[in-house]
Amino acid sequence: MNNLTSGEIRKRFLKFFEKRGHSILPSAPLVPENDPSVLFNTAGMQPLVPYLLGEEHPAGKRLADAQKCVRTNDIEEVGDNTHFTFFEMLGNWSLGDYFKKESLQWSWEFLTDKEEGLALDPQRIFVTVFEGNEDAPRDEEAYEIWKNIFEKAGLNPEGKIFFMDAESNWWSAGDNGPCGPDSEIFYDRTEKGLSSLTKEAFMEADDRQDIVEVWNNVFMEFLKKDGKVAGKLDKRNVDTGAGLERLTAIIQNKKSPYETDLFIEGVELIEEKTGKKYIDFQRDFRILLDHLRTSVFLISDGVIPANKDQGYILRRLLRRATLKMKELNFAFSDIPFLADIFIKKYGEVYSNILEKSEEIKREIEQEVNNFSKTLEKGMREFEKIVNPEVKNNNICKIDFGSVEVTGPAVNEISGDDIFKLVTTYGFPVELIREEAGKRNLLLDEDGFRKKMEEHSKKSATASAGKFKGGLGGDSPKIRAFHTATHLMLAGLQKFAGEGVHQKGSNITEERARFDFTHEGKVEREILDKVEDYVNGAIKAGAEVVTEEMEKEKARAEGVEGSFWEKYPDVVKVWTIKDKEGNIYSRELCGGPHAKNTSELAQFGKFKIKKESSSSAGVRRIKAVFEKE
Ligand code: ALA
Repeated sequence: MNNLTSGEIRKRFLKFFEKRGHSILPSAPLVPENDPSVLFNTAGMQPLVPYLLGEEHPAGKRLADAQKCVRTNDIEEVGDNTHFTFFEMLGNWSLGDYFKKESLQWSWEFLTDKEEGLALDPQRIFVTVFEGNEDAPRDEEAYEIWKNIFEKAGLNPEGKIFFMDAESNWWSAGDNGPCGPDSEIFYDRTEKGLSSLTKEAFMEADDRQDIVEVWNNVFMEFLKKDGKVAGKLDKRNVDTGAGLERLTAIIQNKKSPYETDLFIEGVELIEEKTGKKYIDFQRDFRILLDHLRTSVFLISDGVIPANKDQGYILRRLLRRATLKMKELNFAFSDIPFLADIFIKKYGEVYSNILEKSEEIKREIEQEVNNFSKTLEKGMREFEKIVNPEVKNNNICKIDFGSVEVTGPAVNEISGDDIFKLVTTYGFPVELIREEAGKRNLLLDEDGFRKKMEEHSKKSATASAGKFKGGLGGDSPKIRAFHTATHLMLAGLQKFAGEGVHQKGSNITEERARFDFTHEGKVEREILDKVEDYVNGAIKAGAEVVTEEMEKEKARAEGVEGSFWEKYPDVVKVWTIKDKEGNIYSRELCGGPHAKNTSELAQFGKFKIKKESSSSAGVRRIKAVFEKE
C-alpha cells in the first residue's frame, strides 16, 4: 500500500477525475451561500443541489471536488474512531451524463489502482446495493456491474455484494431535494482479512467496525417533497462521497484519523505541553483537536462566536474545547500554537485560512478566555452549593481541573440552585450534570425546569433565548425521549430478556441513544416488538407519575434501576400506567418526563433506527420519533 499523506490523497483524487473529463471545483464555503434552511454544508452535494435538480452548471456535466463539511448532530460521538464535526468529502458528480457503470468502475479503479489511485487490496473490498421498496426497484443493475468488476479482478463475487434496505442504501439530504438508491463500498480492516461473508456476518463486521464504509455512490433519480418521494428528476445524476479522514486512516494503516498526518502534530503538541500521553487521555485529546480544527475552519469562512445560528455552534465547540483544555491542564495561553498547526496544515489548500490566520487565533483566544473565567466563577459557586462547609476553604481557589472532591455535604442540588448556576453564572447545565454525576448527587431537574419556564414567561429577552438552543436540554421533545426511553427499556426486558439493564442514556432533540447490557445482537423482530410496545403505550395515553419511596422498598418491589448505590435512601420512582391499571414501566430516575404518554404522539411514531455493539456485552440503540 502507498503511504500517501492526506494532501496527496486529495490531490490524487482530483487528478484522477480530471483525467476522466471532470471539472475540478473549489470547495464551497462551510456556510451555504444561498440556502438559509441549513446552517452548514453537510455533504459534498449540498452546494450542488440546484444543478442536481436540473439547472445547468457553468463548469459542465462532470464535476469533482473536495468539499468542507460540518455536521454537529453526532457531536457526542466525537472522540471515537469515526465521528468528526468537520470533515472533507471527496466527491464526483454526473449531471445527466454517465451513470452507474462508469461511476462504480471509477470508484473501484481509484481505490485499487497502483499508479493513479490508492492501491488498496481488492480482496478486502465489500459492497452493498439497494434491495428495493415501494419507491424504487431492487438495484439489479448495480449488482451486475459489481459482479463484473469482481470477476474481472479475478475475485469470486460470492459473499462480497449485499442487498440492503432503504435505511442503509437510500440517500437523501433531508425531507426535500434529490434522492435515490445508493451503493456503498466498504474496506476490511481486520488483520487476517475476511474473504467472503454471509450478509449477517457482514453486518456484524460493520457493527464492530472491522469493515468500514469508505465511499458512497448515490444514483439520484428521484425528488423528495415533505419527506415523501414525489416524482422523478428530469435527468439522472450521480453523486458520490468519500471521507478524506477515513481514507487517510486506512492508507496510513492507523486506527483512527487522529493518528494520521491530519492530527498527529496536534497530538504531539498536547502531549508536550501537558506531559500527558495521548494513549491515556485519548478521548479528551480527540475532542479538543476535533473542535479546534472545526473552529479554525468556521472562522476562516466568516463565522464568529455568537448566541445564535452558526455562531452559536462555534461558541459551543470552543466552550467544549475549553472544558477539555481544563481537564487536560493545557494552558489557555498555548491555544494559538495548536491553532497554528491547523492553519499551517490546511493553509496550503484553503488560502483563506492563511489570510485570516491572525483573526482566527484572536477569536479563539477571546472566546476561550471569556469562557474560562465564567467556568472558574461557576465552579466556585458549585462547590459552595455542594460543600457549604468548605466555602471559605482555599480548595476553591485551585484551578478547576484539579479540584479535589472531598465528599458532598448535600445529596441533591435544588432546582433553584441549578437555575442560579445556569442563569447568573452561565455555568453550563451539561457541566452541572457531569459534576453532580461524579459526586453521586441527584439533581432536581423538575424544579429547574419550572424555574426556567417561569423565567422565560417573565422575560422573552435575549438571555432566555440563549438557553433554548440545547444548553437547557429540557424541551417537550427531550422529555418525550426520556419517557420513551423508559418504555423502551421495559420493552427490551420483556422481549430481549430480563438481563437487559441500562448502562447509559444520552438524549438530544434529534434522538435517544441508549446503552444496555445484552450478549449479542438484538434481532430486528425483537426490536419491532419493542417499538410496538412503546407505541402501544403512547396510544394508551398512560399517565407518568412520580413518587418518593424508601430505596429498599423500591428495590424489593422490583423497580428497575441500575445505579442503586449512587442514590440516597429515599428515591424517586416513575411509573407509567394506563387507566385500566396496566403498568408499562417502573423505574428509578431523576426525570424530566412527559406527564402523559399521549404527549409523545405529537412527535410521530417511536422508531428504533439502529442497534449495534457498544462494548463487550453492551449494545447501543439509536431511536427517533418519525412522522408517518
Ligand atoms: N451525498 C452522499 C453522502 O453523503 C454521497 O453519502
